[in-house]
Amino acid sequence: MRTLFVSSAETGVPLRYPIHIGSNLLAKTSELVDLKNFSKIVVVADEKLVNSSLTDLKNGLPKGAAVLKVTGSENEKKLTSVESVWKFFSKNHLDRNSLVFTLGGGALGDMAGFAASTYMRGISYIHVPTTLVSQVDASIGGKVGVNFAGVKNLIGSFHHPHAVIIDPATLKSLPAAEFISGFGEILKHGLIKDAEYFEVGSSMLHPTPDTPQLEELIARSCKIKSDVVCADPFEKGARKLLNFGHTVGHALEALALESEEPLLHGEAVGLGIIVESAISIKKGLLEDKYLEIIISSLKTVGLPTKISSAIDYDAAIEKMLLDKKNRGGSIRCVLLKEIGEAVYDVEVSAEEVKSAMEILH
Ligand SMILES: NC(=O)c1ccc[n+]([C@@H]2O[C@H](COP(=O)([O-])OP(=O)(O)OC[C@H]3O[C@@H](n4cnc5c(N)ncnc54)[C@H](O)[C@@H]3O)[C@@H](O)[C@H]2O)c1
Ligand SMILES: [Zn+2]
Repeated sequence: MRTLFVSSAETGVPLRYPIHIGSNLLAKTSELVDLKNFSKIVVVADEKLVNSSLTDLKNGLPKGAAVLKVTGSENEKKLTSVESVWKFFSKNHLDRNSLVFTLGGGALGDMAGFAASTYMRGISYIHVPTTLVSQVDASIGGKVGVNFAGVKNLIGSFHHPHAVIIDPATLKSLPAAEFISGFGEILKHGLIKDAEYFEVGSSMLHPTPDTPQLEELIARSCKIKSDVVCADPFEKGARKLLNFGHTVGHALEALALESEEPLLHGEAVGLGIIVESAISIKKGLLEDKYLEIIISSLKTVGLPTKISSAIDYDAAIEKMLLDKKNRGGSIRCVLLKEIGEAVYDVEVSAEEVKSAMEILH
């Protein structure tokens, strides 16, 4: 087992919580976290994990923790789900000294974390992420929220977890495409911050949960994400770098949610990375040769690099303009300068985005 700390003293925002990473950790939860000072402990769990990770987690908790089983999916990342969680909290008489465990992927973690962040103006929660996207990215940084009015994460807050417990063994039951989706975030971390990490990630041919370096990859991503978050906890500046691939990616993900053709979060991010890299080249920031390298890295890990159906460019641009990061009629992107170096807040016209998106056909 290894433990990293999300910790920032310098920014004036006191922030410190552990990320524990290791196989078969869930049954040891009470050894990892001091639980005795919490008045009540409850779990919001993905119903798919009832016979596996939930049993392990319950073995690691004091007896009697109530469990709410929910559907953990992007479709359920909405306000009505939050309301069900609030009802569960109040039915179980949670008070400001209570603790909530979220057990599931990024969609459940964002939704239940948001419920915890707003219940009684914010109670403690611990993320126990069970997908690769959530282990390498979503569970760290305190961004919680739900989709609203067709826009990703339109309603949300910053509320950091009390701790994060990552057990890579939980990934074994993930469908292959869901597992590979995590590589969208892993490659993003390398592209914005660490060229050597990008090389490591992009040399992995169709990785699986049995890939030996997996725990090391998770730890490296957690470190990159937590360093960026600590330097800028409320996304006033450099934290925006983590949105690389997401301006276009979130628009594609939101459009897919309204259609019959699903697109996983990391897949959408991968496609967004291609388009935003192409824009970086058009803007003269990135050398041409890198586009092929980036596309081939996505192919190597098994992420899609094309979209087979027609893309409604205008609808995608509309989504980007509605994105909270782009308010004011302009689209702002994170663009690449090098592998491992990115810049944020670059204004890009709708025409530039549309023409770069053609690369996805
Ligand atoms: N808060 C953040 O900083 C942040 C960062 C990245 C992504 N996100 C969000 O995370 C979401 C994507 O998360 P995701 O990729 O984890 O998808 P997800 O949460 O939708 O989960 C994917 C699927 O896997 C299932 N599942 C979860 N764990 C499983 C397991 N161990 N075995 C079998 N099935 C399992 C879920 O039920 C679901 O069907 C998006 O909403 C995205 O916006 C948030
Ligand atoms: Zn993401």
